[in-house]
Amino acid sequence: MSCLKEQFDELRKIYPDEIKDAMVLPLLQMTLKAKGHLVESDALYIADYLELPAMQVKEAMTWYSMLYRTPVGKHVVKVCRSVACSLRGEQRIVAHISKKLGIKPGETTADNKFTLLEVECLASCGTAPMMQINDTYHEDLTEAKIDQILEALQ
Ligand code: FES
Repeated sequence: MSCLKEQFDELRKIYPDEIKDAMVLPLLQMTLKAKGHLVESDALYIADYLELPAMQVKEAMTWYSMLYRTPVGKHVVKVCRSVACSLRGEQRIVAHISKKLGIKPGETTADNKFTLLEVECLASCGTAPMMQINDTYHEDLTEAKIDQILEALQ
């Protein structure tokens, strides 16, 4: 945590103490980037660092789907399962990716390359069905498009 502590201290210099609550998410993201996934002790550490109630940090940690709480692969494939994507074939999309990668939602391939997750609305409803892989959105998905995307990442 010492290297992370230095990063936390750097960020804290630009946040006034009155709005230190706003540092919860960036500190969780920094920790995630350093460690790959978050555990309860990370939330407790941040709560202690910011002198905030532990529950406040734990709530943030469990609310956001991008704050992984289990180990994930190099490429995290998040398929939106909310209404627009669901109506436009989300289950077909997930089934295709599952077959292609040989994993079910929530699982990671044996080579740690891909993790498949179903998540709530990613705010790209007009281009449903869609998925996010790491920081990139892939929209208006078809099976052929998915094949191209995944093959490019192999
Ligand atoms: S319903 Fe899929 S992005 Fe909103």
